[in-house]
Order: sequence, then C-alpha cells, then structure tokens
Amino acid sequence: MLKLSKLATAMALAAGALAVQAAEVEVLHYWTSGGEAKSVAELKKMLEAKGHKWKDFAVAGGGGDNAQTALKSRAVAGNPPAAAQVKGPAIQDWANEGMLANIDAVAKAEKWDDLLPKVVGDVMKSKGNYVAAPVNVHRVNWMWANPDVLKKAGVSGMPKTWDEFFVAADKIKKSGDVALAHGGQNWQDFTVFESVALGVGGAKYYNDALVKLDPKALQSPTTTKVLETFKKLKGYTDNASNGRDWNLTTAMVIQGKAGFQFMGDWAKGEFTAAGKKPGEGFLCAAAPGTANAYTFNVDSFILFKLKDAGAQKAQADLASAILSKEFQEVFNQNKGSIPVRLGHDMSKFDACAQLSAKDFVATAKSGGLVPSVAHGMAIKPAAEGSDQRHDQRLLE
Ligand code: BGC
Repeated sequence: MLKLSKLATAMALAAGALAVQAAEVEVLHYWTSGGEAKSVAELKKMLEAKGHKWKDFAVAGGGGDNAQTALKSRAVAGNPPAAAQVKGPAIQDWANEGMLANIDAVAKAEKWDDLLPKVVGDVMKSKGNYVAAPVNVHRVNWMWANPDVLKKAGVSGMPKTWDEFFVAADKIKKSGDVALAHGGQNWQDFTVFESVALGVGGAKYYNDALVKLDPKALQSPTTTKVLETFKKLKGYTDNASNGRDWNLTTAMVIQGKAGFQFMGDWAKGEFTAAGKKPGEGFLCAAAPGTANAYTFNVDSFILFKLKDAGAQKAQADLASAILSKEFQEVFNQNKGSIPVRLGHDMSKFDACAQLSAKDFVATAKSGGLVPSVAHGMAIKPAAEGSDQRHDQRLLE
C-alpha cells in the first residue's frame, strides 16, 4: 500500500515537472504558400514531438511585410509571440529595443559558432550574444523556366546574358505564351531589380550601389543600363501581373502558361510541392549574367523575452530543433533553400540545391557573395523603403 502511494506521488511529481516544461509556443511566420506550408509543418511537428504546443500565427503576404506590421503592433501592445520570423539587420533593431531572449545556452551547447558560416552567425548576434536562430540559405538570383514552353518557342537552353534573355523572350511571346511571369508587388519588383543590377553591373557595382548606396555608383552609366534593362522586362509580362502573388506567378510557369520567372528559390518549393522535378518539369539557372554571384537571403527566428519557465524551455527547444541536422534536411528540401549548417551532406537534395550549395561556397571565396537587399539582408527596413521610392522616381 505504502509502495503504491509512493509510486503515485512520484508519478504526480513527474507529471507536474512535465507540465512546467511543456508550453505553448506562439510562432509568427509568413509561410503560407503550398511549399512554405509544407516546410513550416515540419518545424511544428518537431516542436510538438518535444511535448510543446504550437500556436500558429501565420500572416499571409510574400516577402513578409504584412507579418512585420503585425509583429510590431503585438510588440507595442506588450504581447509579443514567443518566436517571430525576422531576419537580417532588423534583428538588431529588435535586440536594441531590449526585447529579445539570449539563446547563448543552446548556441554554446550545440556549437553554433562552428556550425554556421561567420557571415550568418554575426547577423544572429547582438553584442556578442545569439538572439536569433537561422533556418536556411535562400539564393535570390535565380531564373526558373518551363521546358515545354521553351521548346515550343524554339528556345534551346537557358539564356546566360540579358541579351540572350530578350532573344528567348521574343520567341516565347511570338509562340503565344507569356514570356515572363511576374507579380507586380513592390517586393517582387525589387527582387527582379536586384538580379538585373547584379547581372548588368556585377557584384562590385551591386555592393557599391545597392548596399553602400555610393552616389558615384548610383549615378553611373551602369545604373542607367540597369534601369533600361529592368524597364524592358515589363514588355514581356502579362496584363494581369499587377498585384499578383509570387506563388500564383510561379504557378503560371508550373502550368506552362509562362516561360520564365525571376524569383528566389522559395519558388522551387512550389515546383516541388506540385510534384515537378528539375531538368524535367522545370529548369533552374542563375539569372542572366549572375552565374558567378550569389544574393543570399537567410530566414531566421527571433525569440522574445518571456517570464514563464515552461515558455523559456519551449523557446530553447525550438532554437535547438531549428539547427538540428534532421530539421535542416527535411525543411530545406521542401522550402527550396539549402541548409545553413556548414558541410551538410547534400546528396539527397536536387540539382538546383546542389548548385546553390556549391556556388555559396565558391562565391564566398571569390567575392561574388552579396546580401539580398530586396530581402532585408543588407540595410534596415527603413532605409530600404526610401531606396525603393528612389528607384521609382528614377523610373518615372
Ligand atoms: C523569405 C522566404 C519566403 C519568401 C516569400 C522571402 O523574403 O525569405 O522564406 O518564402 O519571402 O514570402
């Protein structure tokens, strides 16, 4: 009898301990397209396997502008979620507000300094402490194509220069399909614009003009050429382009309604979710003129300071899951990106991801690795906004 009651007490204590450890984790993200939803489901699965409850705070809107607005209003109200999808220099803005949890305990135990490329690790830290966990590396300067549309138009191979691109696009237009699938939203315009700048001007010009905002580079004839090339693309898009979401735009290529799209490799998540394989259902290549360069875009999660011990444990478990080999493997195969862990075995990834991993390493050595401005990797959101207005003025 005594034994039994001792057992019952022990069980009750254990259950109590579990109750303190397990918590609800509210996660703000903007991964709502087909491929994105499949990817984020893996994170939810892993967190729930550790006994926590995932509370989804999904805010639709490509590029995450809507999500950042939602996050700000929750933070201002003093009620931030446990974790939020925030990246690049914006991480520092949140850290400077004193709102972020220090996740050094997990980072040290799991040797993040050794696991992560320095260029990534530095962005995840504030005053030397980890305050964000990186998920992946997306390459932005990609060109996607439908092989059947190209074949029908008599286009052989992916164009390597902008001149070749326009020749191919003319042929597709003539054969009755949309040459360039494009969604006319600010961030998508900017995504294409930075690939044009990189292709026309090269990595040094890109860095000087778009990252350092050097007036000499901005006012150079190269900028004129970039803007002319960018403007010319409009003539190859369809009339319904204005305001269209990026994934619906990718669907035009998937369904054989359009030839090309310029978009980061989250677009590959859509091709993959639709059961398409690279080389067969779709083609990938660096945007014209950018084969030796790489615009990187690293997704990450910041964790907010929370008082509850259970919530803190859940946050640590989330950070740990994000950097685990298992998560990096399955998440990135769905998402279209590559693992952020150095030296990850890429043998199960498709050819586009393998090229991305190879080029990431090669361009880091050659100086061709540049931050994506359109995806918040280079300058703080406020500066990027005024930049966009500047571009628009130049186009008027
Ligand atoms: C993010 C991707 C996301 C894409 C479309 C990018 O800025 O880095 O993770 O899939 O926007 O929303």
